[in-house]
Amino acid sequence: MAMLLIKNIGVLATAVGNNAHGGAAQHNGVRLIRDAAVLINGDAIVRVCENGEAPECDNVIDAGGRLVTAGLVDAHTHLIFGGWRQHEVPLKLRGAGYLEILKAGGGILNTLTATRKATEDELYERAEKALNEMLLSGVTTVEAKSGYGLDVENELKQLRVIRRLANEGGFSVVPTFMAAHAVPPEFKGDPDGYIEFIITEILPKVADEELCEFVDVFCETGVFDVTQSRKMLEFASIYGFKTKIHADEINAIGGSVLAGEIGAVSAEHLIAIDGAGISSMAKGGVIACLLPGTSLYLNKDFAPARKMIEAGVPVAICTDFNPGSCPSSNLQLCMNLGYLKYRMTPEEVLTAVTLNAACAVDRGDTIGTVEAGKQADLVIWDAEDLDYLVYRMGSNLAKTVIRKGKIVK
Ligand code: NIG
Ligand code: FE
Repeated sequence: MAMLLIKNIGVLATAVGNNAHGGAAQHNGVRLIRDAAVLINGDAIVRVCENGEAPECDNVIDAGGRLVTAGLVDAHTHLIFGGWRQHEVPLKLRGAGYLEILKAGGGILNTLTATRKATEDELYERAEKALNEMLLSGVTTVEAKSGYGLDVENELKQLRVIRRLANEGGFSVVPTFMAAHAVPPEFKGDPDGYIEFIITEILPKVADEELCEFVDVFCETGVFDVTQSRKMLEFASIYGFKTKIHADEINAIGGSVLAGEIGAVSAEHLIAIDGAGISSMAKGGVIACLLPGTSLYLNKDFAPARKMIEAGVPVAICTDFNPGSCPSSNLQLCMNLGYLKYRMTPEEVLTAVTLNAACAVDRGDTIGTVEAGKQADLVIWDAEDLDYLVYRMGSNLAKTVIRKGKIVK
């Protein structure tokens, strides 16, 4: 296996260990190593050197005194979809709410039609394009949800696309089954019937083909209530899948409390979370996947990240990339929003998009930090330090991207 050395690193900024960090550790757990070098063997990091020390190696990248971090992880995207929804923006600007648009057959249900129409190859090409864009901006692992098919054939189609992206495309993608994303027209007014249908007709097939690792549900007023969400996720656990839950995005109807009670790996959105939700998540060891791009795009409040961190809940920051509430896959922009709007420190933001996000996709033991033994996913940034990286807005500062030891940019 070829050895590769990244030398002359001005600052190597990394969280440490395999477990998510909340509380003071989300900030204090970050090491800032000056004059560092990283030695890679094949797809693994074998050594991290400090104080200007650098072993002999034939294959060298000179980082030119720049900032280096672990590859970023986007732990929440709705990557697989047909069509876009630009026609909704004027409605939104005239004051129509997200749930109002959904109730009128727009929103997720609009994307449902376009996704059902699209072939597997069409969906593959679109997702591949998005993943390449993300990779070139330093995002080396991406979680991807189904949830725009909402029937047997089309949910499986979406999940098979995710599998192909990993197998043929070589992308590091983590598949999540989210048929419980909206109630499809076939079950209009009957969310209970639809949940029963997912559990008896779709979930067993997903399990047979081993098409997902996680199951997610949209627990929200007018979508699925707590009882329905609990049922969905309990059956997911019976099949051996790990769980996530879209909770408290618009209304705190109990989704985050449920996440803590059932020990979900993560809860998502949490804009409207209350004290009961925060303590349940802290008790249950649930990671908060916060989505500042969605708050920006829907013109909503930003989730109370500081309260969660202070309560010991590990916070991850993700894009929520989807055609409606966040048509952007720009995780660097979300880092900037995390800094400015969540008022997280640059170190907390780094933990949020590396180690905590890795743990939110159950990959904390292999990615998310720059330490010997971890997979060699690294980014050299056009930045002198972490403060600069989170201060800039909207530009792609990724200069060199390494995934599994290979230079991809
Ligand atoms: O996470 N909140 C529910 N689902 C997505 C939006 C999907 C869409 O609008 O197409 C979200 O924001
Ligand atoms: Fe989402």
